[in-house]
Order: sequence, then structure tokens, then C-alpha cells
Amino acid sequence: ERELLGLKDLSASELDSILLRAAYWESHTEKRAPILEDRFIANMFFENSTRTRFSFEMAQKRLGTQVLNFAAAASSMEKGESIYDTVRTLESMGIDAGVIRLKPIGVLEELAKQVRVPLINAGDGNNEHPTQALLDVYTMRKQFGEIRGLTVSIIGDVKHSRVARSNLWALRTLGATVKFCAPDSMKAPELEAYAPYVSMEEALNADVVMMLRAQLERHGEGILKSKSEYRAQYGLTTDRAKTMKSHAIIMHPAPVNRDVEIDGDLVEAPNSKIFSQMSNGVPIRMAVVERALR
Ligand code: CP
Repeated sequence: ERELLGLKDLSASELDSILLRAAYWESHTEKRAPILEDRFIANMFFENSTRTRFSFEMAQKRLGTQVLNFAAAASSMEKGESIYDTVRTLESMGIDAGVIRLKPIGVLEELAKQVRVPLINAGDGNNEHPTQALLDVYTMRKQFGEIRGLTVSIIGDVKHSRVARSNLWALRTLGATVKFCAPDSMKAPELEAYAPYVSMEEALNADVVMMLRAQLERHGEGILKSKSEYRAQYGLTTDRAKTMKSHAIIMHPAPVNRDVEIDGDLVEAPNSKIFSQMSNGVPIRMAVVERALR
């Protein structure tokens, strides 16, 4: 399989092989390993990104891939061209694979059926963000050696979070226990069959405390009453962090709303893996790009 649309249907052995290959790339001492110089890949971001977009480009350049970067705001989408016509246009020019980030939910699967080149999902609506969850699982495995048996709490805006969903699927497949914690307005009831919603106190009793960004841009009036109220009820404050187990780690996909879902002082605390997650995104995306192009 070359495309990567989500982790829901990926087997443990498929997840393992990507994680193992990422470990290989992380241990690779040369910064460049130009094994894909004759391959062309387009990064098609129809929604903004810093980490995913640049770590894909870093990964692609380390592998020697020929990279085309597409920015919706500077494209003919401004003249009304559709996502499908845009992807077909790049395909007709000869790209070998595409990395794609989309706002709408439920479009990607159909799109992937309509084009021949393998697509890599860089985040679609609140559905999946597979490479984020792969780098998260990779980070946990580096820390603990094994995913099986871990308890991972995912706290915050579960409803709008593709990161929560992709992590839920991968962590369950690999044998971890997942717990959610969220205010009612940020719960995704359809996920309750897979992971229980627990109190903040219970959520903090875990091996991994994964905070989610309060997705302020996706909230209508009244969902997020006030940032300080949110911090008081669901934020990882320095006081709450003191109640975590001594071996537990803090994670967050970023970007971070400092002093809303996590106190600014915790972002680079000794038990925070937030910037390690970003570093780990590069070897993970090298493995995923290589899988799509080889
Ligand atoms: N974590 C993540 O997907 O960040 P970006 O939106 O900056 O890519």
C-alpha cells in the first residue's frame, strides 16, 4: 500500500513497519540520503500549516525528492477551481504522489479514488491526521519502549480533533488504553464506544497526558465561554502537572495556545515532549514519503 489516508484500518504490522523505518531514518547520520531524486511530489495544502508542511518538505528534501509546493491562496482556486480539478491538474503534469491537507470532511476518500497517484493525508477536517499520530506513537515508543500497556489520556477539544481520532485508532491497534477528557461541548459522542470520557483528575493519572489545542477558529459563539474558564477547568496548569505520575510525559500536537489548554511554563518542561514530537515528524514523514514513492 502506498497511499496513507488514515490509521483506522492500518494493521499493527503496517504501523510497525512505518515506525521501524522512521527509526532507521532517525539513526541515519547523513542529513541527505538522495534515494528518490527522480521522483516528484506535490505538497497541496488547502488549509494552513507550519509543522506538517515544513516537516514534509524537510523529509522530501532529505530523500532528494523533487518537491512542488502548492499554496491555495496563490492558485487558481482563487478563480473558483475545485480541489478535484487542482489535484488532477498536478497529476496530469506528472507528479508521482501528493501530500494533501483539506478543510472539508469526507472529501479525501472520494478524491483518492478519482486520481491515480497515491495521496498522503496531511490532515482532513476533524477526520484523521495520520502522520501526526504516527509521530506521536513514535515519540511514546522512544520514551517507553512499548505501546502495549500504556494509558494515554487525550484532553480537550476531542470533537474537532483529527489528532485525537488518528491517535485513538493507532493506540488501540498497538495495545494502549485511551481515555478522553473534554467539556460536553467538545465531546465526540461517536467515539465513546472506543474510549471513556473521564474527569480531569482521572485523566491526569496516565503515562501520557496529551493536551489538544482548543480550536478557537472552529468554535461558534458560546462553545468556548472564556479562555480563563477553560484553563481553570480543563487546562494543564503547573499545579495540575505536579499531580502527574513521576514517569509520565506531556504531549501536544501544537500549535499551542499558551495559558489556555497548557501553561506556557510547561511547554518546555523536562517531562514535555512537545518539541521532540516536532523533531520526530521528520523521520516519520521520510518513512511515509518513501513508502508512497518506492
Ligand atoms: N500539528 C500540526 O498539524 O501542526 P500544523 O497545523 O502547523 O501543521
